[in-house]
Amino acid sequence: MTLYDLVAPGLAQKGDPRYRIGEIRDADPLGADGPLADVPAMNRDADVPALVAALRALLPGPDLTASFGVTTALAAMRDLGLLLGSLKRHGVEPCAAVPEAVPVLQELGRRTDMVPRDTVHHYTAWNPLGARMRGYTGEEGERRLIESVRMVFPGLVATLDSCAELARLEPYDPAFADALDRTAGHVSAMVDSIDHTVAHVSPVFFARTLRPYFESVDVAGTSYLGPAAAQVPLWLVDLTLWQSDRGAPGYDAFLADSVPYALPAWRAFHAAHAGGTSAVSKLSTAISWEAVDSLPPDLARSAAALARVLRVLKTFRARHIGIARKAYDEEVRLYEQGSGGAPVALLRHVLDLTRDNETLVRRTTDRPGS
Ligand code: HEM
Repeated sequence: MTLYDLVAPGLAQKGDPRYRIGEIRDADPLGADGPLADVPAMNRDADVPALVAALRALLPGPDLTASFGVTTALAAMRDLGLLLGSLKRHGVEPCAAVPEAVPVLQELGRRTDMVPRDTVHHYTAWNPLGARMRGYTGEEGERRLIESVRMVFPGLVATLDSCAELARLEPYDPAFADALDRTAGHVSAMVDSIDHTVAHVSPVFFARTLRPYFESVDVAGTSYLGPAAAQVPLWLVDLTLWQSDRGAPGYDAFLADSVPYALPAWRAFHAAHAGGTSAVSKLSTAISWEAVDSLPPDLARSAAALARVLRVLKTFRARHIGIARKAYDEEVRLYEQGSGGAPVALLRHVLDLTRDNETLVRRTTDRPGS
């Protein structure tokens, strides 16, 4: 199965091996299925010597590493990553305990063109299903969180194409609203995902049990964030809709820290569109040229479609901040910062920015005659 079995066919990124998720999930290039099944018990017992021994035993030699293609290298990183996060949870820097891991992580990062540690993609989309699923705890809440995050990837892959198309268009073009409507459909998976999380993952379980596994680890002197949902690249939709030229320092800085954890095609998308003219800016300019009391029908349709996508983003963010506030409540939390390195205040800031843009666009559609 590929992600393209799940989203629209004929997309520009089709040849990318990172989307061959069935192949990556099936791969077990380090023979890790057996050893990783014991990780939840090792974590429960805080058995650091067993975790260190498992990491050392799974490390591939240079010849094996050199034989890996992209999909097997991604699977190998996924499997080593589970041990990195586990060791860190027990207060051990994994690469200080097992220095031989450093060149392997660097080589796997190079071969996959990604950071030299596991990311949210490894932990969710590329994690096998069923009995082979890798987990830190083996608990139902962890399985449900992985499931929730998995749900958003087909939609986000598809938004890369609809957003690229949007960035090429002007709001007078009927295709502008069409690209926005497709984007709204894809991004609605974020709302389903957070609803699934709220229904099945308790904030206390997240805060006390799971969150400690998502700490940063040090690889050759650089700190890399854990495989947490904060790295889900919803930013690529923000970028095209408003952030490219209407950002604000707090979110811009968070986004700059998040981009390195994205897939190469998504990083390229960021490089191509950062600083470009956003959809909200294009629409505002187009509308400022029109008579105040009437808009050409295609422009009015573009404005309504843009407001709809922003509303979907706002709905996700409003529900997401609800569970984040509970998990980071003073009475519950073990950490002040989220696993993406930012506090809940960042979520408020991003929600406000999303809402401000939606209000601005909605006002244009509320004009008489529009
Ligand atoms: C118990 C569940 C969750 C909690 C407690 C939580 C908490 C947080 C926190 C505190 C942040 C701020 C950045 C940081 O982590 O450093 C964040 C960011 C983020 N989270 Fe979550 N999260 C949860 C589940 C999810 C799920 C299921 C998704 C969807 C796939 C998600 C998507 C995001 C995104 C996209 C951001 C970046 C900020 C934004 O775009 O609004 N989170 N999360």
